[in-house]
Amino acid sequence: MNDAILITGFNGEIGTQTLLSLSQRQIPIIALDINKSDIKYDNVTYIKDSILNENIIKSIFNDYNIIEVYHFAALLSQSANNNPELANQVNEEGSKLIINTAMNHGKKHESFIKIFFPSSIAVYGPRKLKNAQELDIMKPQTIYGRNKLAIEQFGTHKHEESLELGFGIDFRCLRFPGIISPFTVPSGGTTDFAPQMLHAAFNNENYICKVDSLTRLPFLGMKNTIKVIIDIMSFKIINSKLRAFNVQEMSLNPTEIIEQLQKEFPKFIVDFDIDSKFQSIADTWPESLNCDEASEKWNFINKQNNDVTFKEYLIPEIKKHYGKH
Ligand code: SER
Repeated sequence: MNDAILITGFNGEIGTQTLLSLSQRQIPIIALDINKSDIKYDNVTYIKDSILNENIIKSIFNDYNIIEVYHFAALLSQSANNNPELANQVNEEGSKLIINTAMNHGKKHESFIKIFFPSSIAVYGPRKLKNAQELDIMKPQTIYGRNKLAIEQFGTHKHEESLELGFGIDFRCLRFPGIISPFTVPSGGTTDFAPQMLHAAFNNENYICKVDSLTRLPFLGMKNTIKVIIDIMSFKIINSKLRAFNVQEMSLNPTEIIEQLQKEFPKFIVDFDIDSKFQSIADTWPESLNCDEASEKWNFINKQNNDVTFKEYLIPEIKKHYGKH
């Protein structure tokens, strides 16, 4: 049986860029998503199906010796609020199915399967924290946040069980802040205003922001998002009981994002029309994250420099991206 990597939700914002990075490795990749892919890589086998299809998940693990899993399939915070039942199924039941199937595979082959799970700042709450640490109050106020926390805990528990057995899963999880990508415009999330403003500014469009101008949230650019995923998965072991780490690059409010964008796009105009569905969630998510655990346990480098991220990464990359089309 050939070694292979499994990635779920590969058509999503982070999934697309992770698959691009993984596709450069000399190893077969099984890519699962409910939507078809427009881009084809030679070493990738595409499967158009749901992570809730138990038969498909089991057959993937029967047909390949899966050594790493990148599990991105999920509904974001706003989508989850609009469809709680589906969110519980996809975000929780689907994730448990992946973890349990990987665990059984590890037991059968007497090996450890590395699983990457993207968690979120949505696990925090109910109060907005500054410099939130991993063990600070976690009373998520959204379905999405509760789903993420449940899987962090389930995965960590299965990880501990695996250590006792000597095989099973090796669970690695990051609590992502809002992600800003120059390549795609996300939808369904609460932090989407940041990337949406970047794309609107580039395309000479006015923007209406649903979150108050002074609401501060943590963010990470797409380049560093992929870097931290690849980094945390590259270590043979991560010697830590804590399995879910904070990561961030910047802490910004909409006014500061607009200022950054207006340096390059001076005509960019934003109006504010606060939407309580967005504001009430942003008010429970931290302003900023403490990333000391990630720095200590797996060498995460946290150098905040908003100018550099916008001027040297987001703006040049969005120009390149649209230049291609
Ligand atoms: N970016 C996500 C959202 O806004 C949070 O993880 O839903």
